[in-house]
Amino acid sequence: MAHERWLTRRAVVALLRPKTLPRAIRTQSLSTYAGCPRAQPPAPRRPPGCCVRTSVDGSDSLRTSFSGIAFGVTSPSWLTRCLHEQITRVGRQDPQAEAQIKRAAASLPHLISHLGLGGFVDLLVRDDKPRLLLRFEHCGVPALHRVDSGAVLKVYGDQPRGEGPLLKEWGRRGVSVPRLESGTTNSCSWILMEYIEHAPIALTSQECLSVTDVLAGWGDAMHESAASITDVLRPLGDTILPRWEACASALRATGRAAPQAWHTAAEFHYRSDRPAPLHGDLSFANLARRPDGTLIMFDASALLGPKEFDAARWSARLAIAGMSPLDVFARWCSTEAIDASTAYELLGVECVLEAGSLEVQRLQRRSSSLTPHAIDPLQYVDAAIDNLIHTAHSLLG
Ligand SMILES: Nc1ncnc2c1ncn2[C@@H]1O[C@H](COP(=O)(O)OP(=O)(O)OP(=O)(O)O)[C@@H](O)[C@H]1O
Ligand SMILES: [Mg+2]
Repeated sequence: MAHERWLTRRAVVALLRPKTLPRAIRTQSLSTYAGCPRAQPPAPRRPPGCCVRTSVDGSDSLRTSFSGIAFGVTSPSWLTRCLHEQITRVGRQDPQAEAQIKRAAASLPHLISHLGLGGFVDLLVRDDKPRLLLRFEHCGVPALHRVDSGAVLKVYGDQPRGEGPLLKEWGRRGVSVPRLESGTTNSCSWILMEYIEHAPIALTSQECLSVTDVLAGWGDAMHESAASITDVLRPLGDTILPRWEACASALRATGRAAPQAWHTAAEFHYRSDRPAPLHGDLSFANLARRPDGTLIMFDASALLGPKEFDAARWSARLAIAGMSPLDVFARWCSTEAIDASTAYELLGVECVLEAGSLEVQRLQRRSSSLTPHAIDPLQYVDAAIDNLIHTAHSLLG
């Protein structure tokens, strides 16, 4: 198989084999080390060419203080199989994405060794995205030492991203995100997080409102400028504007109006000269509740733009749950101080983006359906698109 050229089973076995660690380490658990300063394990061997570093905050703690750990029940063949499946899924969609996921997988032996990962459990999600999301029982990174639930390694096969540094900064500011470390290995960005038990959020109006209140309460901390990481955040003008244009085209293709004035407004707001750090992808998929009911946030797109963007995107997204974007936005703005004079126009822009993106998703669903004329099980999509377009007209003219 092609993938075996870059990650052979033997290579993974060699890296994960408990026998490569001294007996004293093999028989002790991570918590034993944490509680016993004299029994520090030796630093693991660094394979040639490996460069593990925290990317932004200048800390080199990972470079110097990994500890070897007992690997528990790691099953290299299981890991290899999971990787192969993910690559196959990604490759079916897009050859460029396949090259990315292969690069991510190729960096894995180094990461496993240097982050002291052991006891591979499973992929966290099975989908066709070109990134790896792997759960392990143990890790050897000091910042995550006291985590009993294990660790999640997320690896992208492309350029350094701001997701890790931004979430880490927000954690320091009191926003509820997983504890994590991040860095870059051979041009692949990675994040190592604590694994968090969680339950998805129900799409009830009660939940929509209560989650809105919590997010708005984090708004000031999230959107306060962060000079040390600004250079790894991606401006909205480069990331979201092209997407907005594609969504406006999708709306036009289905006979809806998307006037030029809307495009002018999108350009104006996305290229704002008031850049703040943004999550950029607030949605129910990236939020969950811990067993104690508190909210946890994942997966920041780590963008840079006007701080109202997160509130506007979130409010537009809740249209699918039957919520009024205007009401949700007003509720958010009653907590986070926001410049209302321009904020509502940005909400209009986001409503266009969301309506177009629902339209694209619906077309994709229909084209992949064996029974294209069957009743759409997601009829509420129509209502959401109408709601969003109506709101866009009322705000953008
Ligand atoms: N640290 C974690 N602990 C427990 N579950 C997690 C953790 N990180 C992610 N997950 C789960 O995996 C899902 C997908 O993760 P995430 O949102 O980070 O990536 P993604 O959306 O699949 O990828 P991308 O970054 O390409 O958008 C999350 O919605 C969450 O359910
Ligand atoms: Mg996500």
